[in-house]
Amino acid sequence: MHALLEALLDGRPPAWMVAGQDRVAHMDRVAILMDGWAAALSLSGDERRRWRAAGLAHDLLRDEDPDDLRSHLPPSLAGLPGPILHGPAVAERLRVEGVEDGELLTAVAHHTVGDARFGRLGCALYAADFLEPGRAFMPDWRAERRARMPADFNAVVREIAGARIRHLIERNSTILPRTLEFWNSITSGAA
Ligand SMILES: [Fe+2]
Ligand SMILES: [Fe+2]
Repeated sequence: MHALLEALLDGRPPAWMVAGQDRVAHMDRVAILMDGWAAALSLSGDERRRWRAAGLAHDLLRDEDPDDLRSHLPPSLAGLPGPILHGPAVAERLRVEGVEDGELLTAVAHHTVGDARFGRLGCALYAADFLEPGRAFMPDWRAERRARMPADFNAVVREIAGARIRHLIERNSTILPRTLEFWNSITSGAA
């Protein structure tokens, strides 16, 4: 594992982190869920540390000014809405620092919106970010899904994605192509 991620696991975030106390506490809770799920899935010790590292890394730039984040991203990602720029920005920063774990980078980059390339790690981060117990909204709905993880992994991930997409539709929001591609990748394909 890359030294930056090892340091993160040891409680030493990189100097470029822009995340306040609340964000750090959120990342800790996400990492605890990820760690517990990896253990319950009988993943190896290395894999478990990797899942925990993804949780500890995903919001490292959450409190940075979106315009600053945008200036460091390739044109294909710089046009994304401000609130979701931090994922791609963290992944790009990790990549520049030498992290070569493509699955972890994809998981971090698109944890807010989903991505059709997500494997189990990407789906777990997407779910843990939504289900972690510190969030105030939909407490009962989320507690019920937490209790079903990771045994009912695929169904819970689908329910979260469905709830989030439904929420966007109800607000007349646009839905990113990446989110729809993610949705199509986790549904059974009966179109
Ligand atoms: Fe995030
Ligand atoms: Fe998050």
